[in-house]
Amino acid sequence: MLKGTTREPRLGNPPHRVYETPMGMLNAIGLQNPGADYVIDRILPTLDFTETTFFANVCGSTIEDYVEVTRRFDESTIDAIELNISCPNIKEGGVQFGNSPDMSARVVEACRRVTKKPLITKLSPNQTDIRENARRCIEAGSDALAVINTVMGMAIDVKSRKPVIGNIQGGLSGPAIKPIALLKVMQVAEVARPHNVPIIGQGGICSADDALEFIIAGATTVGVGTALFYEPLVCRKINAGIAEYLAANRFAGVHALVGALDAPKKTVMACAC
Ligand SMILES: Cc1cc2nc3c(=O)[nH]c(=O)nc-3n(C[C@H](O)[C@H](O)[C@H](O)COP(=O)(O)O)c2cc1C
Repeated sequence: MLKGTTREPRLGNPPHRVYETPMGMLNAIGLQNPGADYVIDRILPTLDFTETTFFANVCGSTIEDYVEVTRRFDESTIDAIELNISCPNIKEGGVQFGNSPDMSARVVEACRRVTKKPLITKLSPNQTDIRENARRCIEAGSDALAVINTVMGMAIDVKSRKPVIGNIQGGLSGPAIKPIALLKVMQVAEVARPHNVPIIGQGGICSADDALEFIIAGATTVGVGTALFYEPLVCRKINAGIAEYLAANRFAGVHALVGALDAPKKTVMACAC
C-alpha cells in the first residue's frame, strides 16, 4: 500500500506528529505526500511489480480531487485503488466524507466511473453505524472494503497543559484499537458477505493470533501498520503462524476460515453497562 496520495503535494501537519500511548500510537501526519503526478511519474517506475502487488491510497478535500487522483492512477501500472475517506488528520475531506454514508457513496460512485481497476473503500471507525456506510459503498460500486482506519484521539502534556499533537487531535492505532476493529470487521462482514465483497481487516494486528481473529471475524485478508514500527519483518511471522494454524486445524486454506466465528448470527447491540 502506498502512502495516501492527494492531487497536489502536501507538507502535512506541524509537529509533534506521532506520540506513543499505552499499547498504541497517536499520529497526525496530515497526509504528507509529493502529489499524484510525482508518485505516478517518479515513484511507481521504481517499484518492482514482479513479486509485489501495489495499491494506491487516494485522498482529497473534494469529490473532484478523489476523481482526478483515481483517474490518474487508473492510467498507471498500479494494481488497485483504495479510497481513503477515513483519514481523521486533515482539515477538509477524509473522514468528513467517511462519516456520512451519503457522502461516502457519492465519492465511491464518482470514482467508480473513472476506473475499472479494483476499487477498495477504507471505512472510518469514527461513525455511528459502519454497516450502513458499508452497504452504501458496496451499492455505489466498491469492490472491497478496508476496515478500519485510526480512531480519533488526543494526548495532553500536563506540564504545559498543551495538546501533545501539533494538530491537537490524532488517529489512534496499534493493539489499543484491536477490539474496536474486530467488532467493526464482524459488523461489516454481515453486510459484505451476501455480496461476496472481500474485507481487508486491520487495527492492532501484531501476531498470527491477532490476524486469525480478524479472519474468523470475517476479514478475507489483513493489513499491518503500527506493528511494523517496532518489528519491520513481523508479516513473515504472521504468515507462518497462520499457515501453522490452518494445518493444525485441518483447514483447506484461509478461505475456509473467513467468517468462521461461532456465535449467534445477529450482532448483539446491547452493551455491558
Ligand atoms: C503513521 C501512520 C500513517 C498512516 N497513514 C495512512 C495513510 O496515508 N492512508 C490510510 O488510509 N491510512 C493510514 N494510516 C492508517 C493505517 O493504514 C491503519 O488503518 C491503522 O493504523 C490501523 O492499523 P494498525 O493498528 O495496524 O496500524 C496510517 C497509520 C499510521 C500509524
